[in-house]
Order: sequence, then structure tokens, then C-alpha cells
Amino acid sequence: MFSREPDELLVRFTESVSFDQRLALDDIRQSQAHVQMLASVGLLTNDEAARLTHALEQIAEEIRQGQFQFRTELEDVHMNIEQALIDRLGDLGRKLHTARSRNDQVATDLRLWCRRAIDHTCQLIGQLQRAFVRRCDQDWEVILPAYTHLQRAQPVLAAHYWLAYCERLERDRQRLQDAKRRLNQCPLGTAALAGTTLPIDRHLVAQLLEFQEPTANSLDSSADRDFVLECAFALAVLALHLSGWAEEWIIWATGEFGFLQLPQELCTGSSIMPQKINPDPLELIRGKAARVVGNLTTLLVLVKGLPLAYNRDLQEDKPPVFDAFDTINDCLQIATAVVSGAQLDRQRIAEGLECGYLDATALMEYMIRQGVPQRQAHHWVGQLVRLASQQGVPLAQLELEQFRQVWPQADSGVYRVLGVRQALEALKSYGSSGPEQVRQQVQKWKARLGME
Ligand code: ARG
Repeated sequence: MFSREPDELLVRFTESVSFDQRLALDDIRQSQAHVQMLASVGLLTNDEAARLTHALEQIAEEIRQGQFQFRTELEDVHMNIEQALIDRLGDLGRKLHTARSRNDQVATDLRLWCRRAIDHTCQLIGQLQRAFVRRCDQDWEVILPAYTHLQRAQPVLAAHYWLAYCERLERDRQRLQDAKRRLNQCPLGTAALAGTTLPIDRHLVAQLLEFQEPTANSLDSSADRDFVLECAFALAVLALHLSGWAEEWIIWATGEFGFLQLPQELCTGSSIMPQKINPDPLELIRGKAARVVGNLTTLLVLVKGLPLAYNRDLQEDKPPVFDAFDTINDCLQIATAVVSGAQLDRQRIAEGLECGYLDATALMEYMIRQGVPQRQAHHWVGQLVRLASQQGVPLAQLELEQFRQVWPQADSGVYRVLGVRQALEALKSYGSSGPEQVRQQVQKWKARLGME
């Protein structure tokens, strides 16, 4: 089979240039650092290095202009660029691959790519966080019911919700930064898998490519794709966070809830039901989480059981990691637009607030402050809620006599803790939704995100 031209199917089956051309500029940057190092240790003359560097720069320019012709029969991005160099410089171009293999080359390119991708995604996370923090001022007066089990639980400031999303996103950002710190080692020069007999300077290359240091074991580092897994995991968790937020806002935008109006220009109508405004962008954010989790799964299974060192399976790592970053970046930008443009329906929210006994916990804690053991207080408030709901009134509308039937020591102080606004304002503990706590957290976020 290989004695003749490889047949078309095999070329198509083995090629990666259709997707790994996204590594092209990182590949060139890497080659330029490699050339500089080869010259510094005497494996190239300064003149040779200058000519190689210049030709690589020309190729980079062609790629940036979209004029470079990637050829499938040259298999991958590395061979395409090397061939272009040979076409320009002849034998001098054939020296570039000294003390290097595509195995360490692709590992290096992908680390460079992921490192940049992480920074870009982290910036987009920051934009979404800023959109939430801007809403905190805008929605400062708004109290929302918060839920557990999707059952009305306690009142919180809308701002408390917005900052909850910020906290989640912050952990996502930190996970990506953490992955970046760990991937910041340079595999270049580990060659095929054992290193090289040539007198290369791996520390210099690492420094030129702004890596922390060279990787320490050639066998490990040509096989290692942990960094790809870590990126994909951090992105999958981020996608799950976005999907939870999207679901929450989809629910809030229903006619039944009516808390939220989504920006019209981001929604679509129905072709047959003229009254409908569908929250498609949110549904797609929720849906795309499946894809990002799928990318993580693909990568996990891809590396399962691979013996050291490089195996061609690893070529399949690129589409899922590229797709995970691309998908998340789109989701983050759409989410930022939705968050910036949505409106809370303050009246509708306020109308429903006194239903659902959101102040029940505040009443229980009032009893506790009067010396009632928590379990007892819980029981009594449960009885009072039943009584009130039989009459179809909020707790604040029960007579003092009725409180006393359940809790003999009740005094008129109960009316100072009942009602959603008073229940909310009485929250005090660190990290709670009490206005003073939330105000401090908003300040913290503004400082952290450089907003003031
Ligand atoms: N295109 C390959 C990849 O992405 C480059 C490394 C190929 N190495 C090899 N020994 N065939 O993994």
C-alpha cells in the first residue's frame, strides 16, 4: 500500500492540517525560538539563523493574510510550514528540524495555544462578571425570593443572586489560571521521546517562549496531555455553571414567573404563535453545555490506556479542546449581552413577594433570640404558617392572640421581624443577603474587577 502514492482515503484519514492549522502561528513562534537556540549553541550559524527567522516571518505574514495554502497531503501544520521553508531556502530549511520531533513540537504548540486561549476566556469571564456587578447597582432595591428545591425559601437581594453567579465564575477563572500555571512548562527539545545527543539548551528555549521552565522528563512530556484535560474540565464546569444560570433565567422569564424580560433583540418569535418570545440564546447556552461536557469526555477516553510516549491517538485531542474553548467563548459573550440587556419586572416580583412565607425563618430566629429552642421554634412557626395559609394571609396579618395560641410568650415584637423587607434587612451574618453584607461584597467585586 505504501509503495504507491497513499490513497485518498488514507490521506484524509490521517491528516490533521484541516484543524491543526489553528496552531500555525504558535508553531512559527516556536520554530523561531528553536532557531535562535540552535544558533546560540552553534548548531546553526548566525547567518543561517537570520535567514531562517526571516523566512519564518514571511510565512507567518502569509498565514495572517490568509494567503498561505495549507496542503492536505502534507498531513499536518508542522509539515506544511516546514515544507514552505524548504521551498524557500532549500537545504537550509532542512536544518530546522534539528533536535526536534513533531512529538515535542505539537506538545509545545498546543501548550502555547492553550495558554493564550485561557487568557482570552478569562477576559470574557471578567466581562460577564462586570455585567452582573453593574446590575447590582441597577437592581439594588429589588428583593427576590430565593429557592431550595425550587420552592420559595427566603428573601434575598437581587444583587445577592448576581454576586452568586460572580463567585461561581470566579472559581472557573481560577481553575483556568491554575491549569495555566501547571501547563507553563516547555516540552520542546524532548525530541521523539528520549531527548537528544545534540548540545541543545532547553532552558533557553523555555525562556524565549516565556515558559516557566523546561519539562523534566522527555518520556512523560511528549505524551502528557493533562493540560488539555484540565482546560476541558475547567471549561466543562464553567459550561455547567452557565447552564444553571440559563435555566434559572428561562424559568424567571416564563409567564408563570414573570420576573424577567429578556432583551427582545436576542430572542426569537414563533412562526405560528404571535405572542411568543422564546429565550433561544439561554436555551442554547444550556444546550451547549452538553457539547462541552462531551468534549471533556472525548478527551478523557482518548488518553485512557495509552502507553508512553507519543501515540497517534493524540492527534485527536485538538478538535475537542478547540471546540470547548470556542463554544464557551461564544456562550460567555452571549451571556454578557443577555445579562446587560435583561429587565427585572419589579412590580410583578413585588406583588408575589408576600406569598410563600419567605419570612418564616426570620420569625423562627426571632423566637430563638427570645430563648425558644430551635426545634421548638421551628415546630411553632410551622403551625403558624399552617394557620395563616388556611386563612389565606401572610404571617404579618395574624392577630397577636393567634400567635399566642401557638407561642404563649409572643409579644408585638413579632411584627418587627415579619414581612419580606424586614426579614431581609435583619440578615446579618457574613456572606448573607443582608443589605450591609451585600453592599460590602459589591465593593469587593468592583475593586477586584477594576470597576472603580
Ligand atoms: N499531527 C500530529 C499530532 O497532532 C503531530 C505529531 C505526529 N507525530 C508522529 N510521530 N506521527 O499529534
